Amino acid sequence: MNKITIAIDGFSSTGKSTVAKQLAKHLGYVYVDTGAMYRAVTFYAMENALINDNRFNVKGLVSQLPNIEISFKFSEVAGYAEVYLNGVNVEKKIRTLEVSGFVSKVAAISEVRQKLVDQQQEMGKSKGVVMDGRDIGTVVFPKADLKLFMIASAETRAKRRYDELTNRGDDIKYEDVLKNVQERDYLDSNREDSPLVKAKDAIEIDNSNMTPTEQFDKILSLVNMTLESL
Ligand code: DC
Repeated sequence: MNKITIAIDGFSSTGKSTVAKQLAKHLGYVYVDTGAMYRAVTFYAMENALINDNRFNVKGLVSQLPNIEISFKFSEVAGYAEVYLNGVNVEKKIRTLEVSGFVSKVAAISEVRQKLVDQQQEMGKSKGVVMDGRDIGTVVFPKADLKLFMIASAETRAKRRYDELTNRGDDIKYEDVLKNVQERDYLDSNREDSPLVKAKDAIEIDNSNMTPTEQFDKILSLVNMTLESL
C-alpha cells in the first residue's frame, strides 16, 4: 500500500500532536514532533547558561549547535517516540512553561532552523510519516501529500494547555498560560525565517468546537481521500 507524507501545522496548543500521534498509530506511520526538537535545543541553552530572563547568548548557542544531538526513541509506555537530547530523555523537561517562554526566540534563529529542518527532511524522506510543527507544509515538506492547518481560539488553546500542565502537577496560573500562547502566536507568525503561515494547499481545521473523536474522524477521512487519489 502507498504511504504518504502528512504535514500538520498550526498555532501552539491546537491539538496538532494529539491527532498526529493518533494518526501515526492508526496508520503505522512514524510520528515526528518538530516542536519537541526546538524545545530540546531551548532546554540545552537553558541548562548551559546560554539563555535566562536577562540574557540570550545567540552566538554561543549557534557555536554549540554541533554539540547538540536530538533523537527520538519509541516508548512502549507512552505509545509514541519520545525526544532525547544528547542521549538523555527530555520529553517531560521540555514541556515546562519556562521552556515555552523561551522557545519562540530560539526557533527564530536561522542556524537552529537549518539544522533541525535538515534532520526533519532526513527523517521523513521515505514517507509514511506524520510530522507536526509550524513550517512542515511550507518549508520542510512543501510537496507533502496532505497538509493540514489547525486553528482554535487562543482561550481554548490556553485552557487545554493549562489543564495538561496542572494535571501533571505544575503550579501555574491560567492567565500566564494564555499570555504565553498569545506571545508565541505573535513571535511564531512574525519572525523573518519561516514564519507560521498556512500553505496555500493546506486544509484548515478549526477544532475549537470539535471533540477529539470528531477531529480524528474528519482527518482520517481526508487521509483516506488522499490515499485513494494516488
Ligand atoms: O509545537 P510546540 O508548541 O511544542 O512548539 C514549540 C515552539 O517551537 C513554537 O513556539 C514554535 C517553534 N516551532 C517552530 O518554529 N517550527 C516548528 N516546525 C515547530 C515548532
